Amino acid sequence: MDFKNNINQEVLIDKFDRIVDYVRISVTDRCDFRCVYCMDDEMEFVPRAQLLTLEEISKIALAFTELGVKKIRITGGEPLIRRNVIQLFENIGQLPGLDELVLTTNGSQLKKFARPLKDAGVKRINISLDSLNVDRFKRITRVGELNNVLSGIDAAIKVGFEKIKLNTVILKNRNDDEIINLVRYASDRDMDISFIEEMPLGVIGDHDRAEVYYSSDQIRNVLEKEFTLVPTTETTGGPSKYYKLAETATRVGFISPHSHNFCEQCNRVRLTCEGRLLLCLGQEDSVDLRKTLRAYPGDMDKLKQDIKNSMLIKPKGHDFNLREKPIIFRHMNVTGG
Ligand code: GTP
Ligand code: 5AD
Ligand code: SF4
Repeated sequence: MDFKNNINQEVLIDKFDRIVDYVRISVTDRCDFRCVYCMDDEMEFVPRAQLLTLEEISKIALAFTELGVKKIRITGGEPLIRRNVIQLFENIGQLPGLDELVLTTNGSQLKKFARPLKDAGVKRINISLDSLNVDRFKRITRVGELNNVLSGIDAAIKVGFEKIKLNTVILKNRNDDEIINLVRYASDRDMDISFIEEMPLGVIGDHDRAEVYYSSDQIRNVLEKEFTLVPTTETTGGPSKYYKLAETATRVGFISPHSHNFCEQCNRVRLTCEGRLLLCLGQEDSVDLRKTLRAYPGDMDKLKQDIKNSMLIKPKGHDFNLREKPIIFRHMNVTGG
């Protein structure tokens, strides 16, 4: 055992004694979909010149792993539409100390990228899927092609990731009649599935978020009529509370920021594509790491010190309220969730 290394290993701890060992990195705010709960009809994106370069992102990832981070998730927008993004996966995949490199994607580019992602060391991937009906899928994503995503999922299954999880946002009277079919689709393919309660991030014109709210408990009630859900304490280090579907390998997760807040166990921070380190999804507290990188080029100690200092301003939790105007104007595509 490398005892010295263990003693020297730094750890990020915030002022509520939560250990941060999970970083979500958004590599672009752009997306080839326009999901109605995520984006507005008209969106402005960050000008390309303001993006962190892939080298800068790799440097920040390295700093985090030296500070004890064990899991990095690449998100977007749609991460796979960023030019040369596979290089980034290859770099991060080789960082010593990292247990898991994982990805959240809308699945549209997986036919092309499933194999290179696996080769770069990506272990698990999470794919958004809200409907198995072509027309409805188009209505929810505004532009997405269901069949393209389904063949992307097939490609991912074929290359053999350790686990694939579907992410589903259920909206009342839009797709709540597909809950059972979506779980069947997942379990037939040995995938997990998480149901996410919609969060009030950014102003959207499509619907009133309070009107379409469909809680995790409602979803569980629907599922319990069809399946046996066995509670488990298994965790992937994310916010999903999992149940096992009896007699299958599938876990059904519930991400319930409204009905079962999980902030107390928060172990994560987020990096936006502009280099803003956001300390909570539902608050604006942040540190500008792009500024640090560009003012002190090559100074790893300064970068690590700024990350350590950020722990002092990590908020206790979000104040999401579906019935009030959003207090967070940032849309979900800025942070990738
Ligand atoms: P694993 O557990 O590693 O599979 O991933 P995950 O479920 O954490 O990641 P994913 O990218 O699939 O996120 C699923 C949903 O969880 C997204 O809608 C995120 O916004 C939401 N989520 C993740 N972390 C947080 C958090 O800290 N707070 C809130 N409110 N939502 C979160
Ligand atoms: N509330 C909840 N989930 C959202 N997602 C995008 N926008 C929202 C929102 N406002 C989901 C996507 C994707 C995951 C990363 O976040 O469906 O699966
Ligand atoms: Fe794109 Fe994901 Fe937002 Fe849908 S939820 S518009 S796929 S970033």
